Amino acid sequence: MLKLLDTLADRTLVPGYTKLGYRLRSKGWAPLESMRGKRVLVTGANSGLGRAAATKFAELGATVHLGVRDLAKGQQAKEELAARFPDAEIHVELCDMSLVDTVREFATEFVARHDTLDALVHNAGVLPPSRQETREGNEVTLATHVLGPFLLTGMLVPALIRAKGRVIFVSSGGMYSQKLYDQDPQFRQGKYRGATAYSRTKRMQVVLASQWAERLKGDGITVHSMHPGWAATPGVSDSLPGFATVMGPLLRDADEGADTVVWLASAPEAARETGLFWHDRAPRPEHYFPWTKESAAQRANLWAFCEENTAGT
Ligand SMILES: NC(=O)c1ccc[n+]([C@@H]2O[C@H](COP(=O)([O-])OP(=O)(O)OC[C@H]3O[C@@H](n4cnc5c(N)ncnc54)[C@H](OP(=O)(O)O)[C@@H]3O)[C@@H](O)[C@H]2O)c1
Repeated sequence: MLKLLDTLADRTLVPGYTKLGYRLRSKGWAPLESMRGKRVLVTGANSGLGRAAATKFAELGATVHLGVRDLAKGQQAKEELAARFPDAEIHVELCDMSLVDTVREFATEFVARHDTLDALVHNAGVLPPSRQETREGNEVTLATHVLGPFLLTGMLVPALIRAKGRVIFVSSGGMYSQKLYDQDPQFRQGKYRGATAYSRTKRMQVVLASQWAERLKGDGITVHSMHPGWAATPGVSDSLPGFATVMGPLLRDADEGADTVVWLASAPEAARETGLFWHDRAPRPEHYFPWTKESAAQRANLWAFCEENTAGT
């Protein structure tokens, strides 16, 4: 019965994605495992879901690396975490996920400093109102959600292998509305809509996660994608103020949105699966509609595009 209610809630969106879904499903969940001795890196960790996940990781005893694009905000987050968990080991890492050269520099230095990485959480996210390019000429949602995480994953593989680590892409339920978009990934053609670019790049994340999972399973690394439902965060109130107002009381809090991230990084049962798309600690379909299914050729195009656009000079 619970399983049926869970599936119904998932397909009808509002019940599943809001607090209601979390309340229904979280009854009977096991407590999160200790992460003492584990090393975790969370991108976009100074705010919203990234901040909530980093806080939980610190509470569970992990060494936490806060990946941020703004050092002052990162330092502030670190101080607040340290005040709550004085024994926690917390590091602030400058890593602008939208810039290939910065990600490369950070990753090179990270693997030189650390032998192991137990969990890498690709959380940094943006939803711009109009088309913006980074100084490297990449459209900003593509750069932040796809190119940066693609490069960072590949460069951190040595540290992930030694820990038999886990990689988690924080995607979005918005990706269900989009097919894998491989014709114009920089969104140069037609009228630019931030929400569409956002959802398309979130679809790309889900495809990339399954591709990385396939490539890395022989190395003992598991790769997951997930969506958090709808949670009240600064990102939602800044980028979708109307949605935040209408949904206000029903939105999850950031801890509820981040729960599955932390569970995927820590639960022993999550390490037995790879390449799946999760929400509220359960695998979910990658498509609600048959017309969003991509072909093998489109998947290959995405991988080749990422390789080409993150290659060093
Ligand atoms: N909240 C939801 O309901 C919801 C639903 C579906 C998916 N998500 C996903 O969850 C993730 C977190 O979103 P949120 O709601 O917590 O939003 P948020 O409060 O805006 O947090 C986003 C974080 O990402 C950081 N960031 C943005 N661009 C970055 C870059 N280039 N390099 C490094 N960090 C960067 C931001 O840093 P600054 O503080 O410097 O801006 C911020 O810390 C996103 O991937 C989002 O797509 C959220």
